[in-house]
Amino acid sequence: MKAAEIRETYLSFFEARDHRRVASASLVPPTHDPSVLLTTAGMQPFKPYFRGDERPPHPRLTSCQKCFRTPDVENVGSTARHLTFFEMLGNFSIGDYFKERAVEYALELSRQGFGFAVEDIWVTVFGGDEALGLGPDEEAIECWRAVGFPEERIVHLGRADNFWQAGPTGPCGPSSELYLDRGPAYGPDSERPGDDTDRFIEFWNLVFMQYELFEDGRLGTLPARNIDTGAGLDRVAMLVQGVDSVFDTDYLRSMIAVGEELSGRAYAGADFETTRALRILADHGRGMTFLLADGVVPSNEERGYVLRRIMRRAILQGRVLGIEETFLPHLVQRTIEVAGGAYPELVREAETIAMWARSEEDAFLRTLEQGERLLGEIVRRARGRDELDRRRGRLPASRHVRVSV
Ligand code: SER
Repeated sequence: MKAAEIRETYLSFFEARDHRRVASASLVPPTHDPSVLLTTAGMQPFKPYFRGDERPPHPRLTSCQKCFRTPDVENVGSTARHLTFFEMLGNFSIGDYFKERAVEYALELSRQGFGFAVEDIWVTVFGGDEALGLGPDEEAIECWRAVGFPEERIVHLGRADNFWQAGPTGPCGPSSELYLDRGPAYGPDSERPGDDTDRFIEFWNLVFMQYELFEDGRLGTLPARNIDTGAGLDRVAMLVQGVDSVFDTDYLRSMIAVGEELSGRAYAGADFETTRALRILADHGRGMTFLLADGVVPSNEERGYVLRRIMRRAILQGRVLGIEETFLPHLVQRTIEVAGGAYPELVREAETIAMWARSEEDAFLRTLEQGERLLGEIVRRARGRDELDRRRGRLPASRHVRVSV
């Protein structure tokens, strides 16, 4: 199943179960939500509903939300799973169904829609937290037992893993995550979900949003008990397609191919440096296209800086790959080809996106060239001074000036 089919399978599964399909909101959060610079989760556009400030168009919603997370930017490329931009599939209940139904839906879709074997699915639940004054999430544990999960596949974890909050304050709640066991080829039997392992991959987070966290650390109760779930499309695609990394799925692999075509280097069997560079081009190329489509422009501030940073990181990695020509517009074009069907704004804004990509790349290359010229000048001068010193007998002939750039 290709990523596009997984997206559609998810959304239509929930539509068939009375959820209203809602288009992704912009990566730029609405002005009433200053808690984040960029949209980081599928629930973000629905915060006013969870808080009870606004009435939702329907009590059950489903969406595939564009998300962008910056904390992992340095890891992108070096690991099998880290990304900046991703699409988050989600089903939401605003005061309608709660834990029991959320668990049943997640299991049904994982088995019938994604084709996962039930014995390969493990779950984690909130094991309680003293500071929050909460015990283990017995309700959630009971729900998993009810659908046939044995105790050993229900793993209890603490607040860091199984309590979800959208930011330092706001709607939050205990969560329960679904993991797929990829088998002994990916790690020993002693490993468990929640460990830093390639064997157990988390693919779906069910948040039981029932609290609101206030600035003073107090936990209040929300007007209704809600469900917020999130499944990263690339993660699910990696597991459904049985590939080793998110970059090997059809979606990101077609982005990787752009770097391969431009550099003449193959991704399969490549050394670490090449693999990393090709992955960075794929992730950052996709991310920058989506950010530009939502009206973010490269600058030195806030979200504009996030965009500039990933564009420049991609350009530098292009150099690592030996790409001489302007190449960001090629990444833009491929993103539009693979994701334009699901996100019409990419097609609508195609020209503007390409224009920004080209001008930022040209400007940065000029800066780089200028920097290199300046550096060359400094090196030449240093060498000249050494030569002079040597002639005057102030330096032994053996001293070398070594500069690595
Ligand atoms: N908000 C939760 C998350 O981002 C579930 O959607 O993981």
